[in-house]
Amino acid sequence: MLSVPASQAPIITVDGPSGTGKGTICSYLADWLQWHFLDSGALYRVLALAAEKYGISSDDEAALVNLAKNLNVEFKVAEAGSLVNVELDSMTVTDEIRTETCGNAASVIAPIAEVRQALLSRQRAFHQSPGLIADGRDMGTVVFPDATLKIYLTASAEERAKRRYKQLKEKGINANLRDLSAAIAERDERDSTRAASPLKPAEDAIVIDTSTLDIDAVLVNISELVRNTVPGLQK
Ligand code: DC
Repeated sequence: MLSVPASQAPIITVDGPSGTGKGTICSYLADWLQWHFLDSGALYRVLALAAEKYGISSDDEAALVNLAKNLNVEFKVAEAGSLVNVELDSMTVTDEIRTETCGNAASVIAPIAEVRQALLSRQRAFHQSPGLIADGRDMGTVVFPDATLKIYLTASAEERAKRRYKQLKEKGINANLRDLSAAIAERDERDSTRAASPLKPAEDAIVIDTSTLDIDAVLVNISELVRNTVPGLQK
């Protein structure tokens, strides 16, 4: 059964594993269109950080569900677009949630179906006029099944590990390519084999493999898709 959207504002979902260029593409789209931006991964990361802060173990499902229901998280956007400051309990955690450790911890608690359920309405609340860019793993399959345009980005695990390695080096963070590759493969396996909302393209998603494309080529390709798909866009 089709669910009725909260508003008629268009939604573009961008799903896929990390290292495919999703974040860059979503920021670009949100800026270009001046739409709202949901970084759903940040929500799972904040939950993982909060669990650590409150000493909740990753196998204490009841406590994690309770935490997800009461999570005091805020995404403070300077203006419509992509500049988002993330707060947990009124403390800025924007950078803290970006570590590999936090990403992996998020992936470990993300399979709990009740946790996902608890985060659903928070995610859907981002659907507001003039439109929404939703970045994640299950945006097109579960959270916004009626989205206007669904994009699924993929890239080889090797290429994604290289990109992540470069990113970390640029930030002055020490990293080892082999360890990164192993962590990425493990996280992919966990995200795509879980029973609740596994990482996979929606049936009506457009799949783009970015392994051999640079970011500009992907942006040109996606901008064209957006122009051809979103009705009434004056861009
Ligand atoms: O996109 P990311 O790397 O910030 O996401 C971190 C983890 O959160 C990811 O490995 C799995 C989980 N996640 C999820 O299960 N569903 C989403 N929509 C987004 C992220």
